[in-house]
Amino acid sequence: MNHKRLIIASNRLPFTVEEDDKGDLKLKASAGGLVTGLSAYLDSLQHSSFTEGNEYVWLGWPGASISDEHKEHIKQIAESQFNAYPVFMEEETMDAFYHGFCNKTIWPLFHYFPTYVVYEKESWESYKEVNEHFCETIMEILRPDDILWIHDYHLMLLPRLIRQRMSEVSIGFFLHIPFPSYELFRLLPKNWAKEILQGLLGADVIGFHTHDYTQYFLRSTLRLLGYENNMGKMFIDHRLVKADTFPMGIDFYRFNNAVNSRETQIEREKLQNILSGLKTIVSVDRLDYSKGLLNRLEGYKLFLANNPQWHGKVTLLLVVVPSRIGVDRYQAIKTKIDQMVGNINGAYSTLNWVPINYKYGHVPFHQLVALYSVSDVALITPLRDGMNLVSKEYVASRKDMTGVLILSELAGASKELGEAILINPNDREEIAASIKEALEMPVEEQQNRLERMQQRLKNYHVVKWASEFIQELDYIKDEQRRFQ
Ligand code: UDP
Ligand code: G6P
Repeated sequence: MNHKRLIIASNRLPFTVEEDDKGDLKLKASAGGLVTGLSAYLDSLQHSSFTEGNEYVWLGWPGASISDEHKEHIKQIAESQFNAYPVFMEEETMDAFYHGFCNKTIWPLFHYFPTYVVYEKESWESYKEVNEHFCETIMEILRPDDILWIHDYHLMLLPRLIRQRMSEVSIGFFLHIPFPSYELFRLLPKNWAKEILQGLLGADVIGFHTHDYTQYFLRSTLRLLGYENNMGKMFIDHRLVKADTFPMGIDFYRFNNAVNSRETQIEREKLQNILSGLKTIVSVDRLDYSKGLLNRLEGYKLFLANNPQWHGKVTLLLVVVPSRIGVDRYQAIKTKIDQMVGNINGAYSTLNWVPINYKYGHVPFHQLVALYSVSDVALITPLRDGMNLVSKEYVASRKDMTGVLILSELAGASKELGEAILINPNDREEIAASIKEALEMPVEEQQNRLERMQQRLKNYHVVKWASEFIQELDYIKDEQRRFQ
């Protein structure tokens, strides 16, 4: 049994503080795969008697700049309700860091949008400052026998900063987005690229969702820093470090069991009243240009153009969850989605049928499960996605063993969900054809495909993902001691 304290560090906490019109602070659930996955794992730690005695603290930014008078209050709520320790940040710093380097430089570059990348020295400086600020805050609570697990692209310099302050502590790092091929990574100014790699190599284990991302990271490490590796193991200043692949899973039974819950049933009935017997295609994403929402709409439009026999019989439930609206590219994509939905509905709607039901907003858990479970098809077409948990959640929510997943081959999840209809999101003819194929797929085939995907999701669930990562960290620490 493992009794070490687990310290999680990520930019995003499971709650986000927002100010309402009256200036009062409100807490909202945060969106995104990092929060869903880590929350599910930490929940299991709290509820499992097997892991009794395990303690954790989750450090991160509360999602807004908090005035001095409210800091103590937020700190108390964070600790009592979420086991969290807030890392406060001034608005200006956060702007250059979060809206700047994280989401105008790293995010577009790592998702293969090189033309969207902004290279600004000031935002790089902010990135360094914020990583140092996280380091200072973590050092307020970190003990040498803790396990520190750092998450995602906002904090890539942090492993090394901590290592310099506490050399023996176990540090893991997990990247939730793709690591790009060397040809893209090298677009960063060389000193930034090297500092990022050196920052990551401060960890003992560096984890990625897919084998390709791990290989791309190792290749960049070799090309830019000259470190050779043997099966992902490297010696960095006489210290053993390992890069490895850990595809993140979901809490399968949380979704599967929720399908028959009373709360979901109520939501399903509401949806079924609106859908009144139509075949339904669901699409759920955070607002993001990497999610391929425009390609998806183009594909659906072409499907409608090619298949008049389906008019009046099918509808697309399009859910877009607000995200990073302070970044101009996100505002632009929102405007384009609104326009395209308007165009398609304008061109094809009749008095008693709309081809797209569009919701821009957050969806609570039971409504989400209801959406997944009433939908005959899920259409998920990212242009790049580190993993994509929504596709896994859809599969887990098909309790009646019907339903078809259409998934982009450029999402990390496609490596595990080979029984989905895999498409190239740039090929709108292929998307259109896959929609027809999905809607007309025989039930027996739907069942066969789902059975295999569900089995895989049950086997490699989110607790296993985290446990395997922590086990690897323990193992590498033991090996390091043997080499000393
Ligand atoms: N999700 C959410 N709020 C919503 C709707 C969905 O937090 O209003 C969740 C969804 O259930 C999934 C996550 O957001 O777990 C999205 O993760 P994914 O890996 O698909 O993409 P990401 O947003 O991390 O890029
Ligand atoms: C992706 C990233 C996460 C991030 C999430 C939501 O899943 O990998 O690190 O938390 O998107 O984005 P946000 O900018 O709101 O934190």
